[in-house]
Amino acid sequence: MNTSPTAAPEILTHLESGVMSLTINRLGKKNSITAAMYTAMADVLAAAEQDAGVRVLVIQGHETIFSAGNDISDFLNQPPSTPDAPVFRFLHGISTFTKPIVAAVCGPAVGIGTTMLLHCDLIYAGDNAAFSMPFVNLGLCPEAASSLLVPQLMGYPRAAEALLLGEPFMAETALEIGLINRIVPPLEASALAHRQARKLAAKPLPSLIETKRLMKKGQAALTAERMTEESVSFGRMLSEPAAREAFTAFMEKRRPDFSAA
Ligand code: COA
Repeated sequence: MNTSPTAAPEILTHLESGVMSLTINRLGKKNSITAAMYTAMADVLAAAEQDAGVRVLVIQGHETIFSAGNDISDFLNQPPSTPDAPVFRFLHGISTFTKPIVAAVCGPAVGIGTTMLLHCDLIYAGDNAAFSMPFVNLGLCPEAASSLLVPQLMGYPRAAEALLLGEPFMAETALEIGLINRIVPPLEASALAHRQARKLAAKPLPSLIETKRLMKKGQAALTAERMTEESVSFGRMLSEPAAREAFTAFMEKRRPDFSAA
């Protein structure tokens, strides 16, 4: 497939028959996402929203890794401490995107790698997919309205395991709780996502947009409000001792010591 680089070379796009694919391609760093990549992803979403030639968006990583979440050295060096930071621009864009979003997820989906999926419409996962939201383990709190949407999706007890303990869950659990639509061999996830996206692209776009809006209407204001509240806490916690220790420990490849945090 021919793909085009965006302003960030690790974010690739491809438009074919109304389906815009956005591929996260930073394999050497496990598809972790930098500020420049969030900016590129937010720009792709904004352009796709306006472009009548785009009817459906597909988000994918690699068959071995979806995303290791936010780039941790970026958290140390250019923390997203204000609501207009690239990560929050991306989250606003994906959570308010009016057209259908299909995701193909294989391998680890860490942090925002999982929470961005709460704003996708159809999700096809490889049987190697592993979802985790280890915000507490990094001295942080949830983002992407996951503090609202994850308990709603999984029920409080399982949400507490995922968000307080930061425990990963596998594709079978994700299917059971309704986070994803189907599990397939990793090499088939992208093709399936694109097949489903092409089916959507053949349908009348105004009907898709209105149906998605109506399905999400009850949650839209709450989601936006929670995302703002989370971003304020998240931005503050990034510079607090627990988070600094967690990020430094990750960079130094050691276990964090939270005894002073
Ligand atoms: N930010 C920055 N660099 C990251 C990264 C991240 N989130 N995740 C992985 N990397 C880098 C590693 O530092 C390593 O770089 P190096 O080769 O220069 O040393 C490289 O990617 C490979 O990572 P590694 O941990 O060796 O791969 P793995 O296959 O053993 O494990 C993960 C993969 C995704 C399970 C693991 O990398 C991980 O847990 N990453 C951190 C996830 C995280 O906490 N994200 C933040 C969520 S808010």
